[in-house]
Amino acid sequence: MDVIQAVQWTPAGDAVRIIDQRQLPGAYVERDLRTVEEVCEAIRTLSVRGAPAIGICGAMGLVAALEVDADLSLEAFRACAAAAARRIAAARPTAVNLPWAMERMARTAGLPATSVHELLTRLRAEASAILAEDRAMCDAIGAHGLALVPDGARVLTHCNAGALATGGIGTALAPLYCAVARGRRVQVLADETRPLLQGARLTAWELTRAGIEVTVIADGAAASLMRAGAIDLCLVGADRIAANGDVANKIGTYAVAIAARHHGIPLYVAAPSSTIDPCAADGSAIVIEERGREELAMANGRVVVPAGALVRNPAFDLTPASLVTAIVTEAGVWRAPYRFGASSGAPPPG
Ligand code: MRU
Repeated sequence: MDVIQAVQWTPAGDAVRIIDQRQLPGAYVERDLRTVEEVCEAIRTLSVRGAPAIGICGAMGLVAALEVDADLSLEAFRACAAAAARRIAAARPTAVNLPWAMERMARTAGLPATSVHELLTRLRAEASAILAEDRAMCDAIGAHGLALVPDGARVLTHCNAGALATGGIGTALAPLYCAVARGRRVQVLADETRPLLQGARLTAWELTRAGIEVTVIADGAAASLMRAGAIDLCLVGADRIAANGDVANKIGTYAVAIAARHHGIPLYVAAPSSTIDPCAADGSAIVIEERGREELAMANGRVVVPAGALVRNPAFDLTPASLVTAIVTEAGVWRAPYRFGASSGAPPPG
């Protein structure tokens, strides 16, 4: 099976090519992004989404956008690069992968160089490295997470933390792809994930495309299916993990975690070290994105909330570390107490 390329260079290398995820599963449409505005708009509107994917898209999009500045003086080019990196980093607030990637790019733009051409080459190499590293981290997460997915497992996942959300085979879905590749039978239950339906539209799309059976359930059905004994484990991704292991992920993850704990079901979080924010001591330091009214008030082009009613639309929530059974990174499977390192973002051994 060919791996989905959620973010890639165009063949000419002059733009970053994404799959327009707003249109799935109805239509498979690719978009080429060439300007800072286009990159920010694609990230803001969830045309490209998922914590690692927006970091990769930001980095590659920055390079594409800077090509037009190749005639500037070195000093002016560096100033343009720094300003563009700041703008892209601010496109969405919760996933740390975005500012993490843009920080890497800004640092690269500040390196000693003799020409703009040399800097552009370095920036392109750095963006390609961010993509390649993410792909490798997904594979390693899959390999480490395999131990958590026994033959016959019935797995609940929330939102989409698969290939569409990363540069590789995903984070939460990576152990499932690896388990199936080894001949294990796996049943996946995908929360629909209101309001934008990343579970119903995207997780179900990529799993069925890979020949993996998936059952979409309403978000509200998860707890009662746990009580009925229909779920063995929960496996979700993350947008930012604090130093103490508190996890910011798609809205509804916290409810899944509470229900899982109540029913004695493990909740595993899978994420690369680029999703760990050692500067956030705990979840209270994480900004939760609030999105617009129309995402909840409209469905299928119809108004579903009366004009007089207010709407509150937090896109993410915080799951305290105490509800997380283990965190799977490319470095291994980590259990409480979580103490994520300040320098590398990687967990300490043990
Ligand atoms: O708003 P989204 O669709 O970007 O939210 C995505 C999630 O919450 C994912 O679970 C998370 O980014 C992990 S993706 C590997």
